[in-house]
Amino acid sequence: MTDQKYVLAVDQGTTSTRAIIFDHAGTVVSVGQKEHEQIFPRAGWVEHDPMEVWTNVREVVATALSKAELNSTNLAAVGITNQRETTVVWDKNTGEPVYNAIVWQDTRTAKIVEELGGEVGQDKYKDRVGLPLATYFCGPKVKWILDNVEGARERAEAGDLIMGTMDTWVLWNMTGGVEGGVHVTDVTNASRTLLMDLKTLSWAEDICADMTIPMSMLPEIKSSAEVYGYGRQQGMLVGIPISGILGDQQAATFGQACFEPGMAKNTYGTGNFMLMNTGTEPVPSKNGLLTTLCYKIGDQAPVYALEGSIAVTGSLVQWLRDNLRMFDSAPEVEQLAQTVEDNGGAYFVPAFSGLFAPYWKSDARGAIVGLTRFVNRGHIARAVLEATAFQTREVLDAMEADSGVKLAELKVDGGMTANELLMQFQADQLDVDVVRPVVAETTALGAAYAAGIAVGFWSGEQDVIDNWAEDKRWTPKMDADERDRQYRLWKKAVTRTFEWVDDDVR
Ligand SMILES: Nc1ncnc2c1ncn2[C@@H]1O[C@H](COP(=O)(O)OP(=O)(O)OP(=O)(O)O)[C@@H](O)[C@H]1O
Ligand SMILES: [Mg+2]
Repeated sequence: MTDQKYVLAVDQGTTSTRAIIFDHAGTVVSVGQKEHEQIFPRAGWVEHDPMEVWTNVREVVATALSKAELNSTNLAAVGITNQRETTVVWDKNTGEPVYNAIVWQDTRTAKIVEELGGEVGQDKYKDRVGLPLATYFCGPKVKWILDNVEGARERAEAGDLIMGTMDTWVLWNMTGGVEGGVHVTDVTNASRTLLMDLKTLSWAEDICADMTIPMSMLPEIKSSAEVYGYGRQQGMLVGIPISGILGDQQAATFGQACFEPGMAKNTYGTGNFMLMNTGTEPVPSKNGLLTTLCYKIGDQAPVYALEGSIAVTGSLVQWLRDNLRMFDSAPEVEQLAQTVEDNGGAYFVPAFSGLFAPYWKSDARGAIVGLTRFVNRGHIARAVLEATAFQTREVLDAMEADSGVKLAELKVDGGMTANELLMQFQADQLDVDVVRPVVAETTALGAAYAAGIAVGFWSGEQDVIDNWAEDKRWTPKMDADERDRQYRLWKKAVTRTFEWVDDDVR
């Protein structure tokens, strides 16, 4: 056992929970990881069991510590990062959730969202919260639970129920739960609720009233790097400061050292999320992007970002694996795609949760177009990978139009960046270099940095910049005519998914 210090980050993701221990150089020392069940009660509904997730958090923390042969006294700080927007409502007296967590991909709030927009429509609150009204965000999910779970509204109005995104749920439990658990979120997570004013960084009472959400349910909004509380759960992290929270995509932006306005990263996970730092003023989008908090370190000014969110990228590979059983593990999609020269004319638009950026169409649904007798499973595998790259190009185009910044290269991370064929095709479609860092676990890394900076383990952003190192670079090779031809067909394919959902489509 050593007396050297480390920082642990909990990454509570959509498909799994990881605990990763980092040393002072930002190197991964050990990892604990566990998947949790994806619950699909009906078409369009996606849930997680918050109790299962909390059990997994404890288990992966123990695994990471034991693999590294460390105990919690070796930790200088703990950071939390999380799948964003996924929402839990629980009883603060018993610690029991009143319903499963409603996941960000879930589309059950489509009606609520439409009603909230009323005459004004989707952009009703956009000036203030930076987001269009869409099923993606938290507020309408809370309203759905209060409207649909028996007795929930009365208990909420009596002050017994509280809500949170997964960061808040994990922090509350870690800091003691029913015995004094801290009920807090950070600005980045709060900026995804539709309920926070982007400029004042406080809850917008009138919007909460429109959504019939009692203010007493909401966590306190804090910065992304400060001591929120100390570990208090029996046997776990007792007395260790928990001092960093960032939503997963903001954490990756932080871990990728995007600290200057105009710097951007793209994360390839369950979905894809491109964020560009826009500095200390929020920049409104005219091209279907979100305006969101990027991070706020302690008392420093908040930093904002433009974001292009794509709902389905890596999860489309999982869908080929699990629903169509085309292969046994996600990386095999690459071998299958390599059995053919190109997509054979097939385009796959995975509008499974409607379309997010830059379209924001809840009534779109997935489609494969351009099919002929020629198309085989190799072509489909290729179309699946290409869908990620085409969607990314749409978002990058919007980003450049909104920010006026032409990217010189794109920093990437996440599970899908292991896929060479995809990364090369991505560089070809964007016509810029695509660059992957040595530590591809940038989500956990960013949360660790925020937590470590808050307690002085790292001195500030410069340490993050110094620790960042390039692993691999892909350079564009495709000629412009071919790039444009393919992109034109992709755009046409996208239009074929619009307005699929009628009132009686289930
Ligand atoms: N070699 C590969 N080629 C294509 N896709 C891959 C490959 N390896 C992993 N994936 C996909 O990447 C995703 C996993 O990436 P990652 O672990 O970064 O996800 P994540 O988004 O962080 O997970 P979570 O949503 O739980 O946070 C899965 O959807 C998987 O299908
Ligand atoms: Mg993740």
